[in-house]
Amino acid sequence: MKNHKTIILSNQEIAPGYYRMRILAPEYQQLATPGQFVMFRVQHTFLPLLRRPFGIFRVGFMPADCDAMPEKEFIEIIYKVVGSGTEIMQELHQGDRIELLGPLGRGFETGDPAEEKILVGGGIGLVPLYMLAEKLVQTSKVRLLMGGRTRDDIITVTEFERLGVETYVSTEDGSLGEQGLVTSVLEQKLAAQPKAAVFACGPMPMIDAVQKICAGYSTSLQVSLEALMACGVGACLGCVVKGAGHSDAEPRYLCSCKQGPVFRAEQLDWSRLEQQDSVCGGCD
Ligand SMILES: Cc1cc2nc3c(=O)[nH]c(=O)nc-3n(C[C@H](O)[C@H](O)[C@H](O)COP(=O)(O)OP(=O)(O)OC[C@H]3O[C@@H](n4cnc5c(N)ncnc54)[C@H](O)[C@@H]3O)c2cc1C
Ligand code: FES
Repeated sequence: MKNHKTIILSNQEIAPGYYRMRILAPEYQQLATPGQFVMFRVQHTFLPLLRRPFGIFRVGFMPADCDAMPEKEFIEIIYKVVGSGTEIMQELHQGDRIELLGPLGRGFETGDPAEEKILVGGGIGLVPLYMLAEKLVQTSKVRLLMGGRTRDDIITVTEFERLGVETYVSTEDGSLGEQGLVTSVLEQKLAAQPKAAVFACGPMPMIDAVQKICAGYSTSLQVSLEALMACGVGACLGCVVKGAGHSDAEPRYLCSCKQGPVFRAEQLDWSRLEQQDSVCGGCD
């Protein structure tokens, strides 16, 4: 993990309210693994005070401009504008200075290559699944089930298709793909192939429904949680979630930024996960 003072290479709106930012990020090709994240801060302003966490969508190289300029190693993040931090981010341009702390956290375990892999993404939850897909397609059959409220929430699916991933899209309003919830598609797929391994990231109600379906078929599941985070490095305990076997007499907490954000389903206390609020809520 390093703190890089670096610059933005590009920042473009890819769908209404969704932006894709490319950031100069030396060494990330070597350091970053699928499911890890970065803490992002704009350099020229104190507000927002706290860094904001974003999953790493992709790591790559830009070709050298000329002999004197070496090729540039970059990461891409994709973010949805939801509040003060992301509102500032959407105004940033090529060359703007930012700070990047990362790569952080524990990512996905790739598991048995013989097993079929099913990735389930809800909206912006698709982000940490791309690097995972890049790795999994080398050894396994991979399907992506992607869900959103409307067609505007369905982003970058064609990039997964270019990797050789079989994709299924569903939207709640039926504006793209099958009408309904992505969890209904998962139910159908697991009924046909319960021996698959499932990897999911998205809003908590979706993750909770995915867990119930996978438990019903005894299918292995890893989830990437987007708990509220303040420091991202295990110092503030603002991101703890309750672990399996937690009770008031014997509390078991897991630090989402250091022990996660990816967890195996059996590590978590699902009865308490959905109602859980962050311990820390006071800072901006
Ligand atoms: C490990 C991790 C990876 C993430 N990856 C991505 C990503 O790839 N792309 C992306 O767009 N977002 C991602 N997020 C969520 C992102 O960090 C928040 O959307 C961002 O911090 C909001 O900052 P803001 O200042 O714009 O909004 P704020 O003003 O801080 O908050 C605006 C609203 O969003 C809610 N909110 C803030 N953070 C979260 C969160 N983590 N989960 C649910 N609701 C939240 C707040 O409660 C509030 O209602 C990730 C979060 C985590 C923990
Ligand atoms: S965000 Fe501070 S400990 Fe996890």
